[in-house]
Amino acid sequence: MPSLQEQILAYEQEINAFAPATPADLEQFRIRFLGTKGLVKLLANEMKSVPPEGRKEAGMLLNGFKQLAEARFAHFSALQQSAAANGPAIDISLPGTPIPMGTRHPLRVVENQIVSIFEKIGFSVATGPEIEDDWHNFTSLNMPEHHTARDMQDTFYVAQNPDWVLRTHTSSVQARILESQPLPVRVICPGRVYRNETISARAHCFFHQFEGLYVDKNVSFADLKQTLYYFVTEMFGPDTKVRFRPSYFPFTEPSAEMDISCTVCGGSGCNLCKHSGWVEILGCGMVHPNMLRNFGIDPEVYTGFAFGMGVERITQIKFEVNDLRLYSQNDVRFLRQFQGL
Ligand code: DAH
Repeated sequence: MPSLQEQILAYEQEINAFAPATPADLEQFRIRFLGTKGLVKLLANEMKSVPPEGRKEAGMLLNGFKQLAEARFAHFSALQQSAAANGPAIDISLPGTPIPMGTRHPLRVVENQIVSIFEKIGFSVATGPEIEDDWHNFTSLNMPEHHTARDMQDTFYVAQNPDWVLRTHTSSVQARILESQPLPVRVICPGRVYRNETISARAHCFFHQFEGLYVDKNVSFADLKQTLYYFVTEMFGPDTKVRFRPSYFPFTEPSAEMDISCTVCGGSGCNLCKHSGWVEILGCGMVHPNMLRNFGIDPEVYTGFAFGMGVERITQIKFEVNDLRLYSQNDVRFLRQFQGL
């Protein structure tokens, strides 16, 4: 049987090597060494069998053993208490794992802006189908079957039904509004339109437009000008100038095209404005009496204005994007540039 000294030495080695992984390990340690039936008590009882001349030395050894066990226990309980108080050991100064943020498409960013500008002055949003019939896309808009104005747009026809087209403009929604809503109406109609064009930097087979329509008693060309002027200053800033040029659209009379002073060069001449200082942004006019009549509206009682603009065009001016194809290529290097908008 090992002597008391040898036993104490072996236990002390065990104590020095001890490191609890869990609070339960520490509790086991306490019971084994410091409990009522623990080793410290057990060995103290053995003192009786130590001959009197060896007791002093054995007492000192035993005391050292007891202090070591108590110190080790106190050390680990303090550590466990502070870990419990501080929560899990996480270094909150470490950089986090990035969560990739999506971006809105630039066309959607601009569309949202346009909607909120017009909503502020009482326009509501309306939409219509992209596959449209001849009546809503052409005929009711004062463009009968052989009207030369139909040549202005190269149209995609739906093979199964010669009466169906992919709408060539959002003006078709004007027709749908006038046939279904009571007057007065004040709407803007965003949407995708299609034309049979060869795809290049400056043309695409689909793009996006905004149609505006206001029909009520006493709506005048001055109302149209003021509405569009408000839109331009909100969209491009208060220093932007506008000018109207007479034009032709079958569904408006009189008709105009509107230019804004070039936002890139301020009018001194650049690539965007082709060195003219002006950029065309939309077509507009007073709703043609024939069109009102097509929907049973008396043009002697009601008048209205309408306008149509390309969202790609507005976006090109705002963000200086000079190739239309970028909008539909889904190249993240392009799309990421609009983060946070
Ligand atoms: N629909 C025309 C286009 O696609 C744009 C347009 C011009 C719409 C004049 C209008 C308007 O409402 O009054 O080119």
